[in-house]
Amino acid sequence: MIPTGLTDSLTDLYGRRIDYLRLSVTDRCDLRCGYCLPKGYKSFEEPADWLTFDEIVRVVGAFVALGVRRVRLTGGEPLVRRGLAELAAGLAALPGLDDLSLSSNCTQMQAQAAPLFRAGVRRLNLSLDSLRPERFAQLTGGGRLSQVMAGIMAAKDAGFTPIKVNTVAMRGVNEDEFPEILAFCAAHGFTLRLIETMPMGTAGRDAQRDYYLDLETVRSRLQEHFNLIPDLMPGGGPARYYRVAETDTRIGFITPLSQHFCETCNRVRLGVDGTLHLCLGQTHSVALRPLLRAGASVSELAEHLRAAVRLKPERHCFEDQAAQLVRCMAATGG
Ligand code: GTP
Ligand code: 5AD
Ligand code: SF4
Repeated sequence: MIPTGLTDSLTDLYGRRIDYLRLSVTDRCDLRCGYCLPKGYKSFEEPADWLTFDEIVRVVGAFVALGVRRVRLTGGEPLVRRGLAELAAGLAALPGLDDLSLSSNCTQMQAQAAPLFRAGVRRLNLSLDSLRPERFAQLTGGGRLSQVMAGIMAAKDAGFTPIKVNTVAMRGVNEDEFPEILAFCAAHGFTLRLIETMPMGTAGRDAQRDYYLDLETVRSRLQEHFNLIPDLMPGGGPARYYRVAETDTRIGFITPLSQHFCETCNRVRLGVDGTLHLCLGQTHSVALRPLLRAGASVSELAEHLRAAVRLKPERHCFEDQAAQLVRCMAATGG
């Protein structure tokens, strides 16, 4: 039990209320997107260092007791972790957790969509950078678009809503496809989000240097074809949304570089090894695994979480050469 005085007390030094936990359940992935995991990447965590499902549910319980209302299962690719639906069910059962969502590349979604939905996952954000099979294979290090499409359709049939399609915007790589991808999303009732490349890890840094696209430019180009009206969208993330006039389709722009959104940041990330990352674009972190393995109570965990959140930096510093991140997205949880 948490003393009532601790409730709602996850606030950082800048007055930001933390109510969203991103939970990386594995750092492994069955794809190799060029901006994320470099070919031949080997620095994965050892399974013995992964938090067990029981440890995850305990630590998430402490977050929820402190007012966290949203949890997103991420990776790597979360479906690579065996028994994910079982974990999801354990989390969904935590009283006070209102929003259990998932990020996935959908390679394994065909078989997993229904069990995950039954377990209580409701919202899905999926990665899709191209609708052209050859380009898709090239961008993902060999991914099969037909398999991913089957997964996406299974997710739609299973009832996930909303489904958001995450497309990393890459200059000269997939920018010619944005209208097509938007039409695809409109046809299926999905929301499209375009994302600026971030210099995370060597792969991210190279992508940033070679393909970075300022999304303000993309938006004004899209405005020539579609009437975009500022709008809102359920979820807790940093995207700025527009509705495509005369449709129910929305498009969101995620602009960590051109227009950062750190002053409204509401989240922290828990890596598969129990490291709490306080900012996607900084190295501030706290190891929670030793506490969990020493059998800390929910109250003790909660005390540590409150102290940890005070270490959250004011903003990311992707622009700062000296502070460039070695850690790639898969190691942190997108
Ligand atoms: P919902 O609103 O809950 O759907 O979540 P979201 O908008 O955060 O979406 P999602 O989890 O799919 O994240 C999409 C992408 O947004 C990530 O892969 C990152 O590229 C970027 N992003 C999300 N959170 C942060 C953040 O705290 N900082 C930065 N710099 N980028 C973020
Ligand atoms: N820049 C931007 N987004 C990235 N992702 C991974 N690496 C990067 C990067 N360097 C995001 C993509 C993908 C999700 C799983 O992680 O949005 O869809
Ligand atoms: Fe895997 Fe997602 Fe990284 Fe692509 S972006 S390699 S799908 S974790």
